[in-house]
Amino acid sequence: MDSILVQGGTPLSGSIPIAGAKNACLALMPATLLSDGPLTLSNAPRLSDIATMTALLRSLGAEVTALSEGRVLAMSSHDVTNLTADYDIVRKMRASILVLGPLLARYGRAVVSLPGGCAIGARPVDLHVAAMEALGATTELRDGYLHASAPGGLRGAVVDFPLVSVGATENALMAACLARGTSVLRNAAREPEIVDLARCLRAMGARIEGEGTSEIVVEGVTALHGATHVVVPDRIELGTYMLAPAIAGGSIECLGGRRELLAAFCDKLEEAGLELEETPTGLRVSRGEGRLAPLDVITEPFPGFPTDLQAQMMAALCTAQGVSVLEERIFENRFMHAPELMRMGARIDVQGGTATVTGVERLRGAPVMATDLRASVSLILAGLAAEGETVLSRVYHLDRGYERLEAKLSACGARIERVRA
Ligand code: UD1
Repeated sequence: MDSILVQGGTPLSGSIPIAGAKNACLALMPATLLSDGPLTLSNAPRLSDIATMTALLRSLGAEVTALSEGRVLAMSSHDVTNLTADYDIVRKMRASILVLGPLLARYGRAVVSLPGGCAIGARPVDLHVAAMEALGATTELRDGYLHASAPGGLRGAVVDFPLVSVGATENALMAACLARGTSVLRNAAREPEIVDLARCLRAMGARIEGEGTSEIVVEGVTALHGATHVVVPDRIELGTYMLAPAIAGGSIECLGGRRELLAAFCDKLEEAGLELEETPTGLRVSRGEGRLAPLDVITEPFPGFPTDLQAQMMAALCTAQGVSVLEERIFENRFMHAPELMRMGARIDVQGGTATVTGVERLRGAPVMATDLRASVSLILAGLAAEGETVLSRVYHLDRGYERLEAKLSACGARIERVRA
């Protein structure tokens, strides 16, 4: 298996292009199942998770063609023949559950294996199921598969989410587009990826209002048509690279970055002492002399601080001047990076969902590994400033969410390379 080798201690300078959002693309791709017409996505990221969603859609009978080296995905679902999302594909990626709403809405039936994905807590799908039931589906769990049906079609309804879920909101939004009558999604997720999905669905002929707020109203239509759509920039990739100069020193411009995608995170960076500047082409982050100030961070649904940047922020706070507290409120068991960071010399005390980080002057390189995507990249970031060499194994987690990570960082002066096994 490949590993990544980082020699710490070089300040960074240069620019990094931010790709299209993985999480937006993973919701936009299943939207093709809602229509006969062609759906074309541009600014798609080239990642293994996108390849997994491609394989899943193809297994259902959809056509997915990657053009322009994978930057453009041309899709069509005029010939869907299979309504079962198989365990072998779904277990690789939790977002596979996003085919449930579209299949059910268009074909009145869907069978979806219960998903696997990142090892960050239980991550059930009860909210997805409850939303489909509210829209008139009946569901049953059998042999590890969720069997859902709505033979007469879905009907518009109020879907009241007991807690905010990005994926369940996306599934309900897609399903409601073809339901009979009006649906109201209450306590809906407000993430930029939801807004992006709603824009694409509207381009396909859906009637949607209120995306980006906690109440989305959808007027069902009988059919959607083809569309083209540009995927929103990846705010998590953006935040990750913004933390690189925060940790290693120097200054980086993230091309295509926009502050409104990450306002709460940007406020925290400034509180820690970084300088942020919106440029005509993106967002520049610079770190001056001296250590970062410590922070209190609480992860929350958008517009709060994103859970997907908690691990990377922890890596930065390991060398802050003082004590930081990070509270993880979205996922249980999302501090697996803490023991690895401690092997690099960090001082972290984890109690339940709270991590207390006492800043040390310097981390030391070490062999490390992680079992999820964001934890893996946090260890790379820590390695950028650590004394000596850090070797990250289980790199396939990184490849799920960061394209050309080594190339992007080394173009800014980082000493980082992939060692092929
Ligand atoms: C999405 C993102 C993921 C991010 C997460 C939270 C994608 C592909 N992934 O994941 O990167 O970390 O949002 O911002 O977009 N929950 C339930 N029952 C459910 C569904 C969720 O209890 O049926 C819980 C989860 O366990 C979690 C919370 O709700 O505690 C939020 O999860 P959710 O927003 O659904 O995350 P995902 O959509 O899976």
